[in-house]
Amino acid sequence: APSSEYQAESAAISQGVVESNHAGFTGSGFVNLDNLAGSYVEFTVTAAAAGPRPLTIRFANGTTAGRPMDVLVNGVLAADERPFDPTGAWTTWVETTVTADLQAGANTVRLLSTTASGGPNLDRITL
Ligand code: GCU
Ligand code: CA
Ligand code: CA
Repeated sequence: APSSEYQAESAAISQGVVESNHAGFTGSGFVNLDNLAGSYVEFTVTAAAAGPRPLTIRFANGTTAGRPMDVLVNGVLAADERPFDPTGAWTTWVETTVTADLQAGANTVRLLSTTASGGPNLDRITL
């Protein structure tokens, strides 16, 4: 199936803000999550058919330490504390891919900060 893009700045945000001060994002900006465990972005995505699909997350981490996040699909862990390693600068955006087990129709994808450092800056997901 063709892939769709879902912008983080259009998703549901808990403990974070939409910003556009670091170039290189797509869409109209990115989400700067608060630097604490529990901050998250939650996307609602649509799948034509049930089954596993690659889910690509575009992010930037301008610090020197990983910013681990859990990836939850419909509330179920799809990736446990994925590291989101440093990208070198807040303007350097990279993609990482996890596998999401989707149901047909609507699904939630939550990217959840798991440490006091919060998450990386999040641009979009593609799946
Ligand atoms: C800086 C940067 C933010 C980032 C934050 C962080 O303030 O400008 O975009 O989210 O660091 O450490 O999380
Ligand atoms: Ca932040
Ligand atoms: Ca974006």
